[in-house]
Amino acid sequence: MTLLVIDTDPGVDDALALLLAWGSPGVRVEAVTTVAGNVPLGQCTLNLFRLLALRRPEPWPVVAAGADAPLARPLRTAEGYHGADGLGALGDWPEVEAEPALPNAIDLIVDMGRRHGERLTLVALGPLTNLALACEADLAAMRRIGRVVAMGGAVDVPGNVTPTAEFNFHVDPEAAARVLDAGLRLDLVPLDATGQATVTRAELERALGARPGPRAARVLAFTQHAFAREGGRLTLHDPLAVGAAFDETLLSWEPARLRIGGDGETRRAGGHPNCRIAVGVETERFVSVLLQRL
Ligand code: BDR
Ligand code: CA
Repeated sequence: MTLLVIDTDPGVDDALALLLAWGSPGVRVEAVTTVAGNVPLGQCTLNLFRLLALRRPEPWPVVAAGADAPLARPLRTAEGYHGADGLGALGDWPEVEAEPALPNAIDLIVDMGRRHGERLTLVALGPLTNLALACEADLAAMRRIGRVVAMGGAVDVPGNVTPTAEFNFHVDPEAAARVLDAGLRLDLVPLDATGQATVTRAELERALGARPGPRAARVLAFTQHAFAREGGRLTLHDPLAVGAAFDETLLSWEPARLRIGGDGETRRAGGHPNCRIAVGVETERFVSVLLQRL
């Protein structure tokens, strides 16, 4: 059984990543925490409640909300790609009620680390603000976590927000630097790997068409905006990080030492490795696993 805590900023690909985790046998999603990123924190949390209502996962995870801004700079969001609400700007999501007083994500992450230690895999799908603050709160507990799998960075490939920087690390470079320096068991899934994991609109339509229903219709609807932005193809950034969390053999890995530039660039550096980076992907196997489980 893979025990997951997922920190996320939903986000279209975050949504697919959550659906993949909730649909995966042998995976138990213990908690989901939100962080400001693709959209402001309140919208991320509302989107998480929309997705919970859509999927109704078993068991129902503990939900907590975290940082509403990066450590040292204003938030930069990505509505242009994800849609005005972060989930395709559909305008007809059923009303959901967010719980009025949510626990604090940083406390919850630390508590999960203390409680589950080695057995836990922490998956980060947004800027690393919550993780950096959790390291500040209790570094020893964070270091006991079995694996931290984070989607972020662009090592030997161009960035997707600036010529050299990837979105999650660009939004909060200070947090990314702290997490890389924290001595965690860190597996990074950068654009180098996620660029190899794409799905076409036709493939998604075919897979979901085989099991029609409200959930399939909703997934096809909320992905349309992003498909349009990528010309009929969707890059599976965050789903690949979840795949890496429950089956690391879906990717090939190499130890690396990275340091973070002022814009969030991931630069190779000399010295002891501070993470493993995913460099290769078994694309067909991963995409077929994803399409079966959404
Ligand atoms: C990352 O940026 C976000 O927009 C996506 O959700 C993903 O986490 C890819 O660079
Ligand atoms: Ca994300």
